[in-house]
Amino acid sequence: MFISVRRAIADSSIKDCSRAIQAREGHRSVRKIFLKHESDSGSSSKGLFDVSITHRPEVVEYYDNTWLDYRAIWLNKKNLSMHFGYWDEGTESHSDSLLNMNRELAAFAGIQPGMRILDAGCGVGGSSLWLAENFDAVVVGITLSADQVRRAQRFAEERNLADRVTFQVADYCDTGLDSGAFDVVWAVESCCHAQDKAAFLAESYRMLRPGGRLAIADGFRGSRKPSMDNELLFQRLVNSWAADDLCAIAELVELAENAGFSDVGTRDISSNVYPSIQRLSFAATLWQPLGWMLAKLRIRPSVTYDNVVGAKLVGQAFRRHLLSYATVTARRP
Ligand SMILES: C[S@@+](CC[C@H](N)C(=O)[O-])C[C@H]1O[C@@H](n2cnc3c(N)ncnc32)[C@H](O)[C@@H]1O
Repeated sequence: MFISVRRAIADSSIKDCSRAIQAREGHRSVRKIFLKHESDSGSSSKGLFDVSITHRPEVVEYYDNTWLDYRAIWLNKKNLSMHFGYWDEGTESHSDSLLNMNRELAAFAGIQPGMRILDAGCGVGGSSLWLAENFDAVVVGITLSADQVRRAQRFAEERNLADRVTFQVADYCDTGLDSGAFDVVWAVESCCHAQDKAAFLAESYRMLRPGGRLAIADGFRGSRKPSMDNELLFQRLVNSWAADDLCAIAELVELAENAGFSDVGTRDISSNVYPSIQRLSFAATLWQPLGWMLAKLRIRPSVTYDNVVGAKLVGQAFRRHLLSYATVTARRP
């Protein structure tokens, strides 16, 4: 099955690629996750919220096991960001750059005060809380990780935002949320994990009201026909970070248009993101020997070492133009 996906990718035919992925999706695991669900009012009425999760458990394993690393070297309580930073002339610190990414995407997607926003792949809620604080938005954050939901809920409570920002475990390809419920679907470095990008786009389209906007910031594949060495480097990188493959920007645009979106706009912000990528690669180079030893001695799970390897490779992949970074916005007509 993997071979057929890879062959379709090599043929660079989106249709073939989608078909191969769909075939594999038929074999994916379906798990039932039960979590305590607090009502929007924040009252104590808790019930069992039954969500069918159709994903690779590796995504949850990756995020749950690497949380301490993110916390130690990347995010702080102010930004809570699990994404790359955006650097421009005015950016003075790493923390500022992480918040700038939210600012850039919000400006590009035309976020307006009071909007209802779905944060698809919300991490520990950094962007959700930022949108509520800066745009008075009402936000629902979804992620596959119940640990992330618990953390995000706690952070929302600490900032007195739990009445406007709620979090749930849900799959952004099949959320179970109401159709037309949102003005914006916001996805920062999350749809890169989708095995079936078309399913993510179809579900986003369904959840948006007519006129609503999709807002994506993410890494993209630079080329479908790199040398064998470069393709191996690229695959090692994305697999280390619990992803199968990334779309090229033009492929995502085509898939979005096929899903019914109009006014699809893209902005390549690779040069603004590169300082953040360098920072991560540098930290990974320092940490790699100890990370390797801790994984080898089984003191830490091997996924934490994979994460360090990915962090080291991302700089190389960027310099070889195997990877770019862009914001994408699209409108549901
Ligand atoms: C790199 S983190 C980004 C988190 C957040 N957007 C941020 O910028 O801080 C990727 C997030 O996507 C989530 N994710 C991956 N696949 C998902 C899926 N199928 N449905 C919902 N969330 C998903 C992960 O659980 C994780 O929270």
